[in-house]
Amino acid sequence: MVIDNHDDQPRPSADRSALSRRLFLQVSAVGVSAGLVAGCSSAGSSGRAEAEIPDWTAADIPAQHGRRVLVTGGNGYPEDDRSGLGYQDALALARAGADVTIASRNQARGEEAVRRIRADAPGSKVRFERLDLSNLTSVRAFGARMRASGQGLDMLINNAGVMGRFHRRVSVDGFERVFATNTLGHFALTALLLPVLRKGREPRVVWVSSMRMSDALPFDDLQLERNYDYAAAYDNSKLANLLLAFELERRSKASGWGVSSLASHPGVARTNLIPDGPGLNSREGWRFRMLPFLFQPAAQGALAILYAATSPQAMAGGYYGPKGFQGLRGLPGVASVPAAAQDRWSAATLWASLERLGQVSFG
Ligand SMILES: NC(=O)c1ccc[n+]([C@@H]2O[C@H](COP(=O)([O-])OP(=O)(O)OC[C@H]3O[C@@H](n4cnc5c(N)ncnc54)[C@H](OP(=O)(O)O)[C@@H]3O)[C@@H](O)[C@H]2O)c1
Repeated sequence: MVIDNHDDQPRPSADRSALSRRLFLQVSAVGVSAGLVAGCSSAGSSGRAEAEIPDWTAADIPAQHGRRVLVTGGNGYPEDDRSGLGYQDALALARAGADVTIASRNQARGEEAVRRIRADAPGSKVRFERLDLSNLTSVRAFGARMRASGQGLDMLINNAGVMGRFHRRVSVDGFERVFATNTLGHFALTALLLPVLRKGREPRVVWVSSMRMSDALPFDDLQLERNYDYAAAYDNSKLANLLLAFELERRSKASGWGVSSLASHPGVARTNLIPDGPGLNSREGWRFRMLPFLFQPAAQGALAILYAATSPQAMAGGYYGPKGFQGLRGLPGVASVPAAAQDRWSAATLWASLERLGQVSFG
């Protein structure tokens, strides 16, 4: 079913600044409720609460020389006052000496991202590989190439993501596009890369979630065939990714894979996610245009991801996000885990569904 949400159209106003102030408070309230709802906890899959993190910036990234890193969705170089989070991760890691592969669909943008990173960090090791997460054939081919290289992988950052458009779209494999890209594609990629991750040194997988996520996954309609809504599609995918982060950590520990799984979210950052997704006339797009001060620079949004990926203090099974202003912006802190993401039945059910739909296995 197709739902066009006409409520999402921008509303003209004679007093933009007063309206901006009002909306800022409303959006802030959303941030407060996202952080303080009953059942939220700062403990990730370990069940242990973590101490707050002292101020941490990109300057604190430990040397990454010799570490092989894969960042999905790393080709969003700065343009039009915005930039992809994956690009900022790749840039910071390349500056720290890592051997970085960025992987996404657009070859030209990928090559330009590589050129810019090399110009910014001369001598850095960075390359681009094509990968379409929404296409399982592409994911399998990518996984096969990585395995055939014979090398290990030390860090996988499952960063790429899309927000849905108003109308439901399906991937070449017939899955709802947001589900296919954000969740199924990353799950299949991680499963296919498990052998190379196991060859890595202190390997970590970092999943990128969001402060906004669903209260529960609709297991009877994961593809939203009956009731599509672009916001629900995105919010489901971000809950799914947090469930997967914790489930991977539990399974890795139980099976002795030696791979640490962590989760992070960037707060709210100025990227291409909204313009390329529901667009500038959506509810999100309206905030993007009218409340620019709410959206922190992508380089700052990327810090929580980088903390999870590189800090020796980041805990396997931990969840990290900005610690400033209700978790919406600022330096990395310990993020609150919503009750829905702690639900082990949902995690195991999702895992089994994705193994079946993606025809992949971590076994
Ligand atoms: N920005 C925020 O405020 C915010 C908040 C919470 C969470 N996040 C999360 O942060 C992550 C990064 O998003 P962003 O904000 O940086 O958005 P972005 O600027 O739109 O970047 C998205 C990246 O994903 C890649 N991508 C999209 N579809 C893909 C596919 N099928 N296969 C491979 N790569 C694909 C894009 O490259 P190609 O188009 O070339 O493939 C691009 O590099 C996402 O997981 C998002 O959900 C963002």
